[in-house]
Amino acid sequence: MLEQGNRRRFDGVAWAAAVVLATASVDAATAGDHRYLMNDPTYRTECGSCHVAYPPALLGAGTWREIMRGLDRHFGTDASLPASTEAQVRAFVEAGAGKDSAVVPTLRISDTKWFRKEHRREVDPSVWKSAAVKSPANCGACHRQADAGDYDERSLRLPGGESR
Ligand code: HEC
Ligand code: HEC
Repeated sequence: MLEQGNRRRFDGVAWAAAVVLATASVDAATAGDHRYLMNDPTYRTECGSCHVAYPPALLGAGTWREIMRGLDRHFGTDASLPASTEAQVRAFVEAGAGKDSAVVPTLRISDTKWFRKEHRREVDPSVWKSAAVKSPANCGACHRQADAGDYDERSLRLPGGESR
């Protein structure tokens, strides 16, 4: 058992670490280092089977809420989950959600302003339609570590092989 004084110090350290992690995931959409914490195995399994599990920080809480409300008619498919799994996923995405308070009408990361700005300049329109990409939602076609929440420039490789 920890003595009272030690325990207090330990709690302090754990708290400081938690604040650093929380800040890092919320600010990541605008910061230089585009690596997101994807530490929920349930989320990665349930929301990463048809496409990569998208980082919660890339949409605001309101948009995630709409997505979770409509899983039975999710982009032309049924992605509904058992109630307890759904609650767990909802808690994870809302806790990690970005600051954007407006609901994105199409519920797509790829339709947000920052996404368009970040990508339009850098990616030729023909690339989005190529067989290797097919859809802007197919993050992993270019961000080779997208599965792990890593969108850093170092792991970026456009189809065709050129790394940037
Ligand atoms: C049964 C397959 C399936 C499952 C499971 C699934 N999705 Fe999707 N999801 C899709 C399809 C299909 C699209 C549209 C992809 C496209 O346009 O290329 C999509 C698109 C999305 C998008 C928009 C991507 C963009 O920016 O264009 C988000 C966000 C999303 N899904 C979140 C989730 C979440 C959260 C879960 C888990 C609760 C989940 N998905 C589970 C099939 C699925
Ligand atoms: C066709 C290839 C391609 C696809 C698909 C793609 N991206 Fe990107 N992404 C890029 C390029 C190119 C950049 C620009 C990097 C830069 O400006 O340095 C970029 C930049 C980013 C950045 C900023 C990283 C940085 O270093 O500035 C993030 C975050 C990001 N993409 C997330 C996503 C997400 C999420 C998806 C899927 C919903 C996605 N991308 C789909 C090519 C792609």
